[in-house]
Amino acid sequence: MRLLVLGGTHFLGRHVATAALGRGHDVATFTRGVSGQPPAGARALHGDRDDPDALPKALDGWAPELVVDTSCQTRAAARNAAVVLGGVQGYAFVSSLNAYRNWPPGPVGPEDDEPTWTTEAEEYGPIKADAERILGAALGERFLTARAGLIIGPYDPIHRLGWWLDRISRGGRVVVPETLDQPVTAVDARDLAGWLVEVAERRPAGAVNATGPNGMTTLGALLDLCRDVTGSDAEWVPVPEDELLSSGVQPWVHLPLWLPAEVARTAWDVDTTRARKLGLSGRPLRASVADTWAWQSTHERPSLPPMAHRQEPGLPSHLEARLLATH
Ligand SMILES: NC(=O)c1ccc[n+]([C@@H]2O[C@H](COP(=O)([O-])OP(=O)(O)OC[C@H]3O[C@@H](n4cnc5c(N)ncnc54)[C@H](OP(=O)(O)O)[C@@H]3O)[C@@H](O)[C@H]2O)c1
Repeated sequence: MRLLVLGGTHFLGRHVATAALGRGHDVATFTRGVSGQPPAGARALHGDRDDPDALPKALDGWAPELVVDTSCQTRAAARNAAVVLGGVQGYAFVSSLNAYRNWPPGPVGPEDDEPTWTTEAEEYGPIKADAERILGAALGERFLTARAGLIIGPYDPIHRLGWWLDRISRGGRVVVPETLDQPVTAVDARDLAGWLVEVAERRPAGAVNATGPNGMTTLGALLDLCRDVTGSDAEWVPVPEDELLSSGVQPWVHLPLWLPAEVARTAWDVDTTRARKLGLSGRPLRASVADTWAWQSTHERPSLPPMAHRQEPGLPSHLEARLLATH
């Protein structure tokens, strides 16, 4: 079928385009053309989806039958897509757990029991929640929204797992949070991508918490895997949470994937029963970590389009030096 990927040149969308080509679809990607090229075999259409005229102009008579939307970050982008693509047979939208009013910290129960944001705020979660409503109203039973949590895998430009892999590969004493037993769940972009193409084809409707299963791993086990796959001699230097916070270490940003214990306790407690029923499965975490390392060892890190709220992940060297000096 003719399948349009909104996005398709960077991380998740790129894997969606690859999966769709693998399933025999006639694939086009739609991007501004600043974040790279789609995989070979897909036609690259260009335009800014915030501009209402751009998508019809780029499609130029090529009529998509299925859509996987990985690039929606504004209400205008959702409205424009609803107008032009409201008639397609299946539309799989990539949203976020941030669409829920109570995430983080969660926990997140079954999709239909959890309220999503209803404010006009120009913030990520409320925008995703509004985008779901705008597109859902246009597409009805042909619309599925996948609320993703942490996405990992090759081509990840955000570099959260990537920062740990880089730092651990350099070996030596590595600052880690003392709460290494805190849970983490993630979904490999390739697993999510393949599944998004399948649900666009099969068209189950509604919202789906599209992340890894509860109890998937712990931060400590994930870092151990990073040490294993990089063949590093890194030695963990555990630092208590209050000391990290009082030193100015920002959770999630300076030590990526680390959350304060109070948040971590519930943030990854997400009901993914529906996702499992609809066939979202995950490869072994070791494969995600090893493939990410193999990719980043052989590729330049892709540049990130600017976003006001995005901070570069990783522990600033002055903070690392100070913490290592006292432990
Ligand atoms: N990464 C995570 O852990 C995570 C977690 C939860 C949810 N999500 C959601 O998952 C989705 C995919 O994330 P990702 O990190 O894979 O995204 P990404 O790699 O940054 O891809 C974004 C794609 O959209 C295109 N794009 C951006 N702005 C555009 C515009 N105005 N008009 C047309 N195309 C535009 C980009 O190409 P150009 O720059 O060339 O336009 C790029 O191909 C996003 O919707 C994100 O909110 C991500």
